[in-house]
Amino acid sequence: MYVDKSSDRGSFGSRLGVILASAGSAVGLGNIWRFPTEVGNNGGAAFIFIYLCFVFLLAMPVMLAEFVIGRGSKANTVGAYRTLAPGKPWIVAGFMGVLGGILVLSFYSVVAGWTLHYTVESVANNLTAGQDFGALFNQFVSNPWKPLIFQILFLLMTHFVVARGVERGIERFSKVMMPVLLVIIVVLMCCSLTMPGAGDGLRYLLRPDFSKVTTGVVLSAMGQAFFSLSVGLGCLATYASYFRPEMPLVSSAFSVCVLDSLVAILSGFIIFPAVFSVPGVSPDAGPGLVYITLPHVFNEAFASLPLLGYLFSGMFYVLLLLAALTSTISMHEIATAFIHENYHLSRQRAAVLVTLICMLLGAACSLSFGPWIDVKIWNRGFFDLFDFLTAKFIMPLGGILITMFVEWYLDRQFVVDQLTNGGTLRVRGLRVLLFLIRWVAPIGVGIVFLNEIAN
Ligand code: ALA
Repeated sequence: MYVDKSSDRGSFGSRLGVILASAGSAVGLGNIWRFPTEVGNNGGAAFIFIYLCFVFLLAMPVMLAEFVIGRGSKANTVGAYRTLAPGKPWIVAGFMGVLGGILVLSFYSVVAGWTLHYTVESVANNLTAGQDFGALFNQFVSNPWKPLIFQILFLLMTHFVVARGVERGIERFSKVMMPVLLVIIVVLMCCSLTMPGAGDGLRYLLRPDFSKVTTGVVLSAMGQAFFSLSVGLGCLATYASYFRPEMPLVSSAFSVCVLDSLVAILSGFIIFPAVFSVPGVSPDAGPGLVYITLPHVFNEAFASLPLLGYLFSGMFYVLLLLAALTSTISMHEIATAFIHENYHLSRQRAAVLVTLICMLLGAACSLSFGPWIDVKIWNRGFFDLFDFLTAKFIMPLGGILITMFVEWYLDRQFVVDQLTNGGTLRVRGLRVLLFLIRWVAPIGVGIVFLNEIAN
């Protein structure tokens, strides 16, 4: 099997850089915005338990499979299949990943743009008491220009990190921003846990209620695990193509899964104690929670200490913004690496092209909350369509193809060599991991995928 290792590609300089960049890809709006709401609505600790099973039994094997493909080929996600399976149709999985990355970045940057706007408003102290935050939010997202401007600014932030390269851009940024993000989480959590309603908030989040666990809840836990760990698209394969030969794949994947799950759970420890400290506020506001409920909560909970409220609110939106940014960088990198290597464009030019494509598609997603609200394809606006196509279709199908490729197509010894660094590492539970990649992950994900198609 031909593996080109001669090309002069960037690489991550350290193990910490690898873990923080990969964890950055995973930790995103999905952890801080979506996960706590899902937990609260779907059985508290019962949901967390099911979610964690999926993280370690399904998503982690897919992550490992991506690591094997990426480091084993030292190429972008399309080039990886071209290198490891020349002339074979597996390359479709690579193209699906590039398309999926662009689609995710296009709709995700809409919400990230809203977050940037709320960060600015919060820092400028404009989210003050006595306002109708629901009306403010609706006016903002339906405006034809304002959300677009913030989305473009956000995409430019993503662009500049990616264009600087792997070590000087992605790794350096992740090594600074991920610790900042973790410190903000701990500070906000300590503050939230001292609020008057903290006990009720924790009970809402953690009380196991198995009566709420339906098939739909199990499936959404699986979807959440996939989305949260950014697996199935090839962004982790792309990152792994920059890993050095001595990087231990299994323990790195485990660390990323633990960090991602921790951030998700701790985010619940921030949001719900705060929400329950204000009487009459509903904790199950869904997507509006962060932009409508929380500004109100920040004002009410800190009514007697407005400076603390100001700091809490500012830090919360900065946290959300950083989390979004570390994820979008990895989505951008899938397509940038592909265009850079496949079409021999400079990295900067490739990044410009990807940013422009995402600005165009992203504008369609943003406008679907305003002037294009009635433009529907298959009964969905652009934002919902891109979300649906990626989360329900491309990511699970990608997960199935990636694990099948590694366990059914690649030479078993090649896979074992990657996981053990050529036999120099002792990996505990290696046979179990290979079993998970071979059987459990593709079948488990296949069930979710078929269920989604049937629905
Ligand atoms: N993994 C990223 C998130 O959780 C996409 O938001």
